Amino acid sequence: MKRLAGKTALITGAARGIGLAFARAYVAEGARVVIADIDIDRAQASAQDLGADAFAIQLDVTIQSSIDAGLARAIAELGQIDILINNAAIFSAAPLVEIDRTDTQRVFDINVLGTLFMMQAVARHMIERGGGGKIINMASQAGRRGEALVAVYCATKAAVISLTQSAGLNLIEHGINVNAISPGVVDGEHWDGVDAFFAKYENKAPGQKKTEVGEAVPYGRMGTADDLCGMAIFLASSESDYVVAQCYNVDGGQWMS
Ligand SMILES: NC(=O)c1ccc[n+]([C@@H]2O[C@H](COP(=O)([O-])OP(=O)(O)OC[C@H]3O[C@@H](n4cnc5c(N)ncnc54)[C@H](O)[C@@H]3O)[C@@H](O)[C@H]2O)c1
Repeated sequence: MKRLAGKTALITGAARGIGLAFARAYVAEGARVVIADIDIDRAQASAQDLGADAFAIQLDVTIQSSIDAGLARAIAELGQIDILINNAAIFSAAPLVEIDRTDTQRVFDINVLGTLFMMQAVARHMIERGGGGKIINMASQAGRRGEALVAVYCATKAAVISLTQSAGLNLIEHGINVNAISPGVVDGEHWDGVDAFFAKYENKAPGQKKTEVGEAVPYGRMGTADDLCGMAIFLASSESDYVVAQCYNVDGGQWMS
């Protein structure tokens, strides 16, 4: 029996990386999935790759009218939304004395306000139609403690964990489970950018930081997007109905809490 048979999911930032792996895993488990991304060309190519149970919409999580229109399109296509994954995010890093206000506002807009107002829009829909739902937010080990060069991104991910707790407590009376996944270091295009940053600020050769962080993981390597899919399926299925307002580390042993 497929664990998400008949379910529908909207995943932000799913044109590539972890979100795309989630979309693929959900389709394999019987769900129909909306790939919602600011990059519509990539989203469409990814949806096509996944077949008839996936379709793409352009959605910018920083613009309320885009959230509303994207959600309306998704509901028109799928009938209703049972599962939301707030996965869209951007990375940012700089020494404290170089942090830029405009860049910081953009990172908070996407990572924090995007998560909050996507939760709000989808929760309204779930409450109106009844029957509960599942919301999964993407946190990070970066949200568990600060990092010297990563103040802004770390703060946004700490905020995602806090929002997950408050929303989880607020929405469970409607049968909506809100939980989060906290990955460690996950290989992919996102980390290529992170590696380039550390190459610049820590004077490392390209690829060196990636090798170092992989070796430092207790499991012995960086994570892959597929390593996270088991938790994403669990948190979207009825097996997690009694799990409320939690944040799960799926990080090869990096963080304990
Ligand atoms: N890769 C890691 O090591 C790692 C570790 C911990 C947590 N995470 C978190 O996991 C999630 C996915 O990470 P990833 O590595 O797949 O990232 P990624 O950069 O590969 O993908 C992010 C996606 O979000 C989309 N996006 C950006 N801005 C958007 C906006 N305004 N509206 C809608 N979509 C937008 C991008 O187009 C892209 O497709 C993120 O929340 C990230 O913070 C990643």
